[in-house]
This record gives sequence, structure tokens and C-alpha cells, in this order.
Amino acid sequence: MSICLSPSMLSIDFTKAGEQLAIVEGAGVPYLHLDVMDGVFVPNISFGIPVIQGIRKASHMVFDTHLMIVEPERYVEQFRKAGADIINFHVEATKDPAGCIAKIKATGAKAAITIKPKTPVEEIKPYLADVDMVLVMTVEPGFGGQKFMADQVPKIAQLAAWKKELGLSYDIEVDGGITLDNVRQVLDAGANVIVAGSAVFGKEDIAAAAKGFLDIFQE
Ligand code: DX5
Ligand code: ZN
Repeated sequence: MSICLSPSMLSIDFTKAGEQLAIVEGAGVPYLHLDVMDGVFVPNISFGIPVIQGIRKASHMVFDTHLMIVEPERYVEQFRKAGADIINFHVEATKDPAGCIAKIKATGAKAAITIKPKTPVEEIKPYLADVDMVLVMTVEPGFGGQKFMADQVPKIAQLAAWKKELGLSYDIEVDGGITLDNVRQVLDAGANVIVAGSAVFGKEDIAAAAKGFLDIFQE
């Protein structure tokens, strides 16, 4: 299974967004991670549908949309129309995860389910056969630039073990505090989609930062 980098736009310089998106795309980065926050599910507000719609015209990357919003099922169609290719929602944010997955898939987008650090990984086990990707948070969602929580790595390993055991093929994404120094640890545990915000867009030389990850993926 190929390893993908998904840099988080939360750390982009919004005055240079078009330019910086072109830099990562030009460096061969396949995904763009879009962190949508509603100020209710998480204690922060980021950006939403019009921003995604706007940058869709400027990028061919796979739009990996991470919804940190309550009742995500209410907005699935609108995010899809705006250009989301993958729609990630939190199991903690909805009463009906199975219904949300079905709704995402009905739009033609890929469905992904996400867990916060305090949520046991068992909570998403019932949905594994129905999703294209699972996302393990390695920080409390809400802000970029936080410290990586190494105690979440066993969840990645558990999801990799279940994938094998159940004969499934979902991607395993990891998000929060990932750097060139700790990425090997999550790759070894079985993650294959790597989110990095401050470690890519937060760096002076964005292309070099992205290439640093892509080189490690080749090893
Ligand atoms: C946090 C977001 C992350 C964040 C990652 O709520 O989901 O995607 O932007 O940023 P870093 O890589 O700086 O932790
Ligand atoms: Zn995210």
C-alpha cells in the first residue's frame, strides 16, 4: 500500500495560499488535508465550504477533508459539492456513524472515520468494513502545532492488525504533531496517510519540508 503525505492547510500562510499549494503539489504531494472546525465540536473555528470551493480551482490534489463539526451528516453533500474527495468525520460527533458513512459514499466521496485521543479504538471497529480510511488523532483536535501523543501509537497498530485479520483494505491516517523525527514510528505501526501541518506549511522551505517526508516514505 502506498504511503501518502497530506499536509494540513491549517498551517498555510493564507496570504500566499495559491503559491504554497502549488509548491506542495509541484513537490509531488498527493493529498491536501483540510481541517474544518465549528467552534462546538472543538474549541476553535477554522474555515469551511466557500474556502474549499475556492481552492478547488487551484489544486488537483486529493482533498482530504477532516470535519471537526457536530452532526457532520448535515453537511456531507455541501462539502462534496465544494470539492472534497475524502470526507472524514468524528465518531464522537454523530449519533449515527453508519448513516453518515452511507451518506458520504452516496455522494461518491471516500468515507473516513476519526477518533479523538480519549476515544477507545474499539468504538470504530463496527464500521471498519464500510470505510475507505480511518484517522487516528495524535493530538486533541482543535489546533495545529501541538505535541505528538506517542501513547496513541498502539491504536494504529491495532487498526493494522484488524485490517489483516478481517481481510480489509482501509487506509490508516495519522494526524497531529507529526514531524520528520517521529514519522517513522507511525509508519512502522502501520499508518500510510500522514498529516503534517506545522512540519510542512510552517517551515521556511515548504518544498524541502515536503520532500523530507517523501524521502522517508521511499526508504
Ligand atoms: C488538529 C488538526 C490537524 C493539525 C495538524 O485539530 O486536525 O490536522 O492541523 O497540525 P500539526 O501537524 O501542526 O500538528
Ligand atoms: Zn486534521
